[in-house]
Amino acid sequence: MPFDITAANREGPVVQVGHLEGKPRDGVVAMLSGSLLKPPDLAVIEQLVDRGGCKACHTTPNLKNANGTLGPSWCEVTEEFKTGKIDLAFIYQSIVNPNAMIAEGYPSNLMPANFGRLYNEKELQALVAFLATQECPK
Ligand code: HEC
Repeated sequence: MPFDITAANREGPVVQVGHLEGKPRDGVVAMLSGSLLKPPDLAVIEQLVDRGGCKACHTTPNLKNANGTLGPSWCEVTEEFKTGKIDLAFIYQSIVNPNAMIAEGYPSNLMPANFGRLYNEKELQALVAFLATQECPK
């Protein structure tokens, strides 16, 4: 079922995202109803990202030693969000259900599919907020 996200806390066009069911969908609704898009505390994000081992596969200049190349650069994700190509629901879904939509040019079944259990709702929202708001050098 398509899921239309309201543009509560952001500018730019709203993108429809399918395949959001159960927990992911509840999480996104919770995010949109809260004061979500504040850049989260980087020290917290460091800990969360280390717990999930994200740096082995993803690059961002904003976290220590995050230079993995098996998955897309997180600055690309942020850029796509800031230009309205993807929305918060998409980022959320990419974390909890990575095989729902595969980033072009990257393999499926490589990113771990257990992050919806490894993180609680608040932690997932912090990760999404980080990916949506981090500043990347142009
Ligand atoms: C073992 C490698 C690996 C790990 C660990 C990993 N990822 Fe990924 N990730 C990938 C790959 C490969 C893709 C591209 C394929 C896809 O879309 O699932 C991806 C895609 C993504 C995307 C979507 C990017 C886009 O442009 O659509 C996000 C967001 C993401 N990962 C976040 C995370 C977060 C957050 C963590 C840690 C909690 C993490 N990843 C851990 C490999 C990984």
